[in-house]
Amino acid sequence: MSKISAIIPAAGSGTRMGGDRSKQYLAIGERPILIETLMVFNESPHIDEIILLSPPADIDLMKKLLKKYDLAKVTKVVKGGKERQDSISNALDALDRSSSIVLVHDGVRPFISDKIIKELIDAVNQYGAAIAAVPVKDTVKKVSNRSISGISIIETVPRENLWLAQTPQAFRAKLIIGAYANAREKGIRGTDDASLLEAIGVDVKIVMGSYENIKITTPEDLVFAEAILKERSR
Ligand code: C5P
Repeated sequence: MSKISAIIPAAGSGTRMGGDRSKQYLAIGERPILIETLMVFNESPHIDEIILLSPPADIDLMKKLLKKYDLAKVTKVVKGGKERQDSISNALDALDRSSSIVLVHDGVRPFISDKIIKELIDAVNQYGAAIAAVPVKDTVKKVSNRSISGISIIETVPRENLWLAQTPQAFRAKLIIGAYANAREKGIRGTDDASLLEAIGVDVKIVMGSYENIKITTPEDLVFAEAILKERSR
């Protein structure tokens, strides 16, 4: 039977949060951010297995957390690499042949909904590749490099066709495996997974994400996260 697999990268050091512990272990509400994220996928009827990427030094800690929170769909805990792309590459190597669809979702985006997960899987079944994204709300400026006299605006970029890429990003397994193999061969580095598929000419569709689907990266994001959680628990 073909499986739908979720890869959750959680192998970053999280240095932008300050402090010496990775941001994903910080609690929002009662549970660590990463656990909140994993729970959405663990409880989704659309997901068959989860592959979790861990900092190499935290594998035992991860296994303890998985047990504590009864996250039974996590079938593999894989060591992360130097950068996110290296981590995902390790997870793809650990994928077995029965996976037909792969979703990649950052461990630090706990507010993802099962509705978006389902819409992405539907889009992949129809088109092969799709990501969650939201329209840009602010005015976007292209600027110069910083010089002694500061940073200058080069141009205002029309925003009507600009969207912010989020995760999950979902693909037919063969497409993402092929895109990562191509990137490795040609030395392509991307800041998301879709860009590696774009590089081999795959048409990647957009599914409406959510402005609540924030990536918790810096201390002020934690304040937003607590607010979203509070609003949801009402
Ligand atoms: O670095 P960035 O904030 O884009 O990280 C997004 C996600 O990728 C985080 O969940 C982080 O733990 C993960 N990551 C990883 N391996 C790395 C770097 C980041 O799994 N080497």
